[in-house]
Amino acid sequence: MSQRTSFNYKGKFTLITGASKGLGKAYAEELAVRGSNLVLVARTKDALETLAASLRRDHGVRVEVIQADLADMSAPERIMEELDRLGVDLDLLVNNAAVGYSGGFFTRPIVEELTPVSVNVYSLVALTHLLGRRMVARGSGGIINVGSNGGFQPGPFNATYGATKAFVLMFSEAVAEEIKGSGVRMMVANPGATATAFFEQSPPP
Ligand SMILES: NC(=O)c1ccc[n+]([C@@H]2O[C@H](COP(=O)([O-])OP(=O)(O)OC[C@H]3O[C@@H](n4cnc5c(N)ncnc54)[C@H](OP(=O)(O)O)[C@@H]3O)[C@@H](O)[C@H]2O)c1
Repeated sequence: MSQRTSFNYKGKFTLITGASKGLGKAYAEELAVRGSNLVLVARTKDALETLAASLRRDHGVRVEVIQADLADMSAPERIMEELDRLGVDLDLLVNNAAVGYSGGFFTRPIVEELTPVSVNVYSLVALTHLLGRRMVARGSGGIINVGSNGGFQPGPFNATYGATKAFVLMFSEAVAEEIKGSGVRMMVANPGATATAFFEQSPPP
């Protein structure tokens, strides 16, 4: 689906986290249609390589792949180093990767409550800071943080996930206000329930 847009993506570089499937893959496909070069980030290298090959072939854009586990707190720094090694100067960052587990807070292992904090909050903040400050210094760029309609109210049996998305909303809107006029824009996308593999990891109760 190609449509008119006020932003010219042709020849720009976009990094998308969680690009191996679901909404991140859809962002990659739509941005490739608009002519953006891409850096695809996720854990599943095969899926990223397959997507990269088809986007290069179908749209003639440059596509780089970085395999990273965003639950690992050293991942954002490593991603930045890899971008420097590739000579990529980012124009758009899409912080899309996230995980969430359903069920009573005290009935689930603590790792399933802390991993969403690492992926959805820690890595999102770190990538925003590491990559966004370069955009602000340059005076151009954009950051899209993917939240959720689950971030607008407390979500019993999804407590940690919903709280991470509330964080994404508050954080993004606050920083967007701080950088007004800098040439860099930041926004939150808050999807509603969408048919992806997201719920396979942990079906709603
Ligand atoms: N689907 C919905 O109904 C819905 C509703 C509201 C908001 N959202 C939000 O939309 C975004 C995309 O969700 P989706 O539905 O597309 O989910 P999805 O199909 O499960 O895809 C999640 C993506 O995140 C990546 N990811 C997960 N854990 C990761 C980690 N530790 N390190 C690196 N990458 C990781 C996955 O790749 P690998 O597994 O290859 O690492 C995958 O590419 C998320 O922010 C989600 O919270 C979704």
